Amino acid sequence: MARKPVIFGNWKMNKLRSEAEAFFQGVEPHLTGEEKADYGVGTPFTCLDVAVKNAKVLKVAAENCNEKDSGAYTGEVSVPMIQEIGAGYCIIGHSERRTYYAETDAHCAAKAKRLLDAGIVPILCVGETEAEYDAGKTAEVVKAELAGSLAGLTAEEVGKIIIAYEPIWAIGTGKSADKQTAQDCCKLCRDTVRDLFGEDAAEAVRIQYGGSVKPINIAEYMACPDIDGALIGGASLKVDSFLEIINATK
Ligand code: 13P
Repeated sequence: MARKPVIFGNWKMNKLRSEAEAFFQGVEPHLTGEEKADYGVGTPFTCLDVAVKNAKVLKVAAENCNEKDSGAYTGEVSVPMIQEIGAGYCIIGHSERRTYYAETDAHCAAKAKRLLDAGIVPILCVGETEAEYDAGKTAEVVKAELAGSLAGLTAEEVGKIIIAYEPIWAIGTGKSADKQTAQDCCKLCRDTVRDLFGEDAAEAVRIQYGGSVKPINIAEYMACPDIDGALIGGASLKVDSFLEIINATK
């Protein structure tokens, strides 16, 4: 079964609404909707409505959600709120959220379930620290994160999600994983899904590599059999570099 490639920017805590509007208006005229990949961006909550309004071909992702629908959770944003705005995707478990905001695998599992119930595609991030990589613990860490973050989902649900393998040592460092390492780790993610949820889920789930992806290295990642796309931080912030990435994957 052919998996449709999927390339997302992750703006993190960047861009005002006016800048988000300019970005979408800069990128959209270069897309026809006939591309062989899905392209999208994760934006701050404050930009989501501007993004949805200006998105014709681009997909829009929130960068976080709360697993509960409503209540006394000051500062949080629920899945129904994201659904009402019209974002079709939501990043969960990014290493920055795991590190700075104590997001756990159990949170990810609850968020993924709630998003899937709402018809929103979770983009689940996993990945090891530099110390874990150096200690040869990548497989152990990634398998445990996947098992914990996908707990309670059905095989059919897992087939619908996107997994982003993002080694923490490669995020924002310019030190991207070489293509063999990225391929091996994305394959590890797929093999783990196969072990836990079976062949159909493993064949359907789309797996991205993330960590210092740039216009110059995107094509070599996309050529790897288990890499279905990329999650891109810094290089997704400028229209020109995002268009270069799109052009390199067309
Ligand atoms: P960079 O592309 O800036 O390394 O960020 C990767 C990332 O964290 C995407 O979620």
